[in-house]
Amino acid sequence: MKKVFIKSYGCQMNHYDSERMLESLTPLAFQQTESVEEADMVILNTCHIREKAADKLFSDLGRLNQLKNRRQQQGHKTVLTVAGCVAQAEGEEIQKRAPYVDIVIGPQAYHRLPQILETPAYQNADEKISTLGVVDTEFPIESKFDHLPKNRSKTNVSAFLTIQEGCDKFCTFCVVPYTRGAESSRPVSDIVKEAQQLVSNGAQEIILLGQNVNAYHGIAEKNAESWGLARLLYELAEIDGLRRLRYTTSHPLDMGDDLIKAHGKIDVLMPYLHLPVQSGSNRILKLMNRRHNTNDYERVINQLRSIRPDIAVSSDFIVGFPGETDQDFKETLAFVNKIGYAQAFSFKYSARPGTPAATHDHQVDEIVKDRRLQELQALLDQQQHDFNQKIVGQIIPVLFEKTSRYDHQIQGRSPYMQLVHAIATNELIGHIRNVRVDLAHPHSLVGTLQPVSSGYTG
Ligand code: SAH
Ligand code: SF4
Ligand code: F3S
Repeated sequence: MKKVFIKSYGCQMNHYDSERMLESLTPLAFQQTESVEEADMVILNTCHIREKAADKLFSDLGRLNQLKNRRQQQGHKTVLTVAGCVAQAEGEEIQKRAPYVDIVIGPQAYHRLPQILETPAYQNADEKISTLGVVDTEFPIESKFDHLPKNRSKTNVSAFLTIQEGCDKFCTFCVVPYTRGAESSRPVSDIVKEAQQLVSNGAQEIILLGQNVNAYHGIAEKNAESWGLARLLYELAEIDGLRRLRYTTSHPLDMGDDLIKAHGKIDVLMPYLHLPVQSGSNRILKLMNRRHNTNDYERVINQLRSIRPDIAVSSDFIVGFPGETDQDFKETLAFVNKIGYAQAFSFKYSARPGTPAATHDHQVDEIVKDRRLQELQALLDQQQHDFNQKIVGQIIPVLFEKTSRYDHQIQGRSPYMQLVHAIATNELIGHIRNVRVDLAHPHSLVGTLQPVSSGYTG
């Protein structure tokens, strides 16, 4: 057996891709290792969304080159692979700055990894070979999903399942349409089959993924009609043994009435929605080419709350977008106060090469961005803490996923996506159990396991 080490940066779609890459390497006798030192193949599955993420790759690569050289002296070959969105966006730059990288492969081409490894160049390479020099960043006509192994071998308690790829929205700050390519949806039957496999492999929860997951419109083979996300959710909810269903990330423009209504009708659909708004200023939303304004967003949230009053709402925010004034930023704070978030992510605007906003005249000073980020995060933290505090004393079903870093504790997620710690044995990992919430921290809850007879378990 050869060993493969993989590190994933960035979004959940990359984590899903990493699992699929590992599965595609199994027939080539590769086994996953947690120790990079003993790896015959190292894959860095990269993210290009902000400058920091991309920079991190080059510092990691420097260290890996030293490791590759050390292993070479000991007579071992190491195939160094850069996959993911930096590979797609900066394939040539990687070859220039890190010529010792063997394979550069994009997010829509990684199904060809086994093929590359079976070429004579790789097969015949002895430990002295410095690089295979393969760059595969095409957007192939064929879909990677048609070429990946049909059976899912790996699964987590909470499993990711990509149903939609790419993005056609072209927000002016964002690299995703360039790194992941045009929007496309997987056929319904492929998704249902994969979900069934994940559940029979032990998944209790499935999180459907796409950069624009609610723009999903996949072909349903039966009568060649196209299904939206709502219809797909109803279908998946029928899978025996599936306890929880979620989807992410949604765009406000694609929150149709049928999807909103599904939140009141599907039991296994969890009361949590990540719906990024990015800014509370309509002027900035326009400059961002978001194609929705704050009223559209608020209407969606109000509709959702009228159907599912307890729904937890989450968002992403960018501060310091080019041209953002103090007044625009104040509008963002006011909007956060108006909506009330259960949790949220916020970022300083990062100029990305090739995106329209990067060359905008009015870039915001780093110091101003820092100050705004701090202020926004303080408000969002306060809201998250308040949301968590409201749950203290309640009994909630928790899906336990892994051991906690605290002694004798395991951790899982509430229906509202909160991280919950409780004293319990590892046997409960993979199960949903009722927990009484005793304490709310800003980013997690602590609770006490309830006897199984205490009623509803989600
Ligand atoms: N498809 C999703 C999320 C895309 S990327 C959506 O449409 O909302 C995840 C988040 O990263 C974005 O929501 C945005 O808040 C942030 N982001 C994207 N590009 C960025 C940039 N150039 N600078 C800072 N944050 C960025
Ligand atoms: Fe990026 Fe906008 Fe597409 Fe989201 S919708 S992936 S932010 S371009
Ligand atoms: Fe990053 Fe690519 Fe995801 S840029 S956020 S890994 S789609």
